[in-house]
Amino acid sequence: MFGKRGETPTTPPAADTAAQPVPGVQPGQPGQQPGQPGQPGQPVAAEAVPGSIPDIEFGGVTASPGMVDPLAVPAAPAAPAAPAQLTPGVPEPGQFAMPQTAAPQPQAPPAQPPQPPKQQGRKSGGKSESYYDIKTTIFNALIDAIDLTQLGQLDRESARDEIRDIVNEIITLKDVAMSIAEQEELLEDICNDVLGYGPLEPLLARDDIADIMVNGANLTFIEVDGKMEETNIRFRDNAQLLNICQRIVSQIGRRVDEASPICDARLPDGSRVNVIAPPLSIDGPALTIRKFKKDRLKMDNLVKFDSITPEGATILGIIGRVRCNVLISGGTGSGKTTLLNCLTGFIDEEERVITCEDAAELQLQQPHVVRLETRPPNLEGEGEITMRDLVKNCLRMRPERIIVGEVRGSEAFDLLQAMNTGHDGSMGTVHANSPREALSRLESMITMGGFALPSKTIKEMIVGSVDVIVQAARLRDGSRRITHVTEVVGMEGDVIITQDLFIYDVVGEDKDGKIIGEHRSTGIARPHFWDRARYYGEEARLAGALEKAEIRTEELDV
Ligand SMILES: Nc1ncnc2c1ncn2[C@@H]1O[C@H](COP(=O)(O)OP(=O)(O)O)[C@@H](O)[C@H]1O
Ligand SMILES: [Mg+2]
Repeated sequence: MFGKRGETPTTPPAADTAAQPVPGVQPGQPGQQPGQPGQPGQPVAAEAVPGSIPDIEFGGVTASPGMVDPLAVPAAPAAPAAPAQLTPGVPEPGQFAMPQTAAPQPQAPPAQPPQPPKQQGRKSGGKSESYYDIKTTIFNALIDAIDLTQLGQLDRESARDEIRDIVNEIITLKDVAMSIAEQEELLEDICNDVLGYGPLEPLLARDDIADIMVNGANLTFIEVDGKMEETNIRFRDNAQLLNICQRIVSQIGRRVDEASPICDARLPDGSRVNVIAPPLSIDGPALTIRKFKKDRLKMDNLVKFDSITPEGATILGIIGRVRCNVLISGGTGSGKTTLLNCLTGFIDEEERVITCEDAAELQLQQPHVVRLETRPPNLEGEGEITMRDLVKNCLRMRPERIIVGEVRGSEAFDLLQAMNTGHDGSMGTVHANSPREALSRLESMITMGGFALPSKTIKEMIVGSVDVIVQAARLRDGSRRITHVTEVVGMEGDVIITQDLFIYDVVGEDKDGKIIGEHRSTGIARPHFWDRARYYGEEARLAGALEKAEIRTEELDV
């Protein structure tokens, strides 16, 4: 066995790479794009020429400056024309004032006449066609009556009150028969349309949802407790959906349309958003939101959910504390970020930690943390700051540990170098389905990053850097498990040798389709990081946990 770092860790040398400012790199400015248009929460700030009608698209999604109306996208199958009396306030195309924008924009198309919902969602939630008809009528009257420019300057509560007053007046004027409850619901709907993210609002307000997946206007799924559920949410049409997508991405100075149909963004609350629009997504825009969790799960929660045994949790805690270099591997949504966040909970308070992420998700509790975030290119395709830029810059910031949210490309090389050169205890996640695969992914990321190194050299570098791989998995019943805690111990010939400390065995399935399985210790009493644990005074706790894990495993075998 060779290639591993010295068994006894030493305190990392003070920043040997002297701090050199990197021109143009300004970490910590997420979302501050040049020419950033609409501010969150002020979607109706279109600069309308007095007396003219602001740029409004029926349905309440109002263009903000810099926002491109994306209606060039072919609307889904033609809808039956709406009755004429439902369109009292729809202006003629010529009446529109173009919003003043920084970026060149295609001509905003005229507002469309209201269209009744084309097709009932598979679960319509009990709302009838007549509800939508009434809503359309009231909505148009509201748009006629209200000055959207001024509304955009109000805070949300006042704007809501304003809308409430006018809607109530319209209901009285038009003599619409509605119960108080129905009126409230209607008001809520209309406010969401005018002020927020339309039909998405109720989903965004829920804390129990992990992901929201919108597949075109009529089909929206959510993930709750690891299970996929269809919802009764639907959009008026694909144009409304795309407009909402537009509103989301315009907040970080991006846009999504036929010319640039793929876009990553995030909501003001930190939720990550991906939009892919027609013509690439065939059945209307596909919007995916990974909701930001305010309270990330802690290790205790993972134990409670049987994702890991109590002994396993203790061992992971020790691994985190004694500065093993850790790679967390897993598929999408398998709990990698959650696990990384848990592991960072064991970092001592006095360590200087720098995190690099695509979208800041980690919630470190330590006082001495610098959080960095990558930046996508702006509309002109400039100004991108990649993960590699961040990790490289990190090394000049005298970090003690570097945490990389997701290792996906050439930054793998820099992270391994950091792990290898005194920044022990660095961590990152990688997308792979087994510890073995994680290792080969790492190797191919370095090869594809253009480093002309022989395979064996890269492998030696990996062996010299990574101590532990923790594998997370989302099982088919929706539960998340830590399936491997695996050490990287050395090389034999051209092959990296690993040893499992812990594995999860699937035994079967109960009658409800829930997977039955058990965490099993492999009986290794002296893991490779033993000396490290001793150095930090953790060997007694480590020995205790390993022993207990083994006893538990023996009990299982009986
Ligand atoms: N052990 C677990 N048990 C139950 N839910 C979990 C567990 N780990 C993660 N989750 C939930 O799964 C979702 C995805 O987790 P996340 O860590 O973001 O996954 P990844 O980073 O692998 O994509 C989150 O909503 C999270 O709260
Ligand atoms: Mg993640």
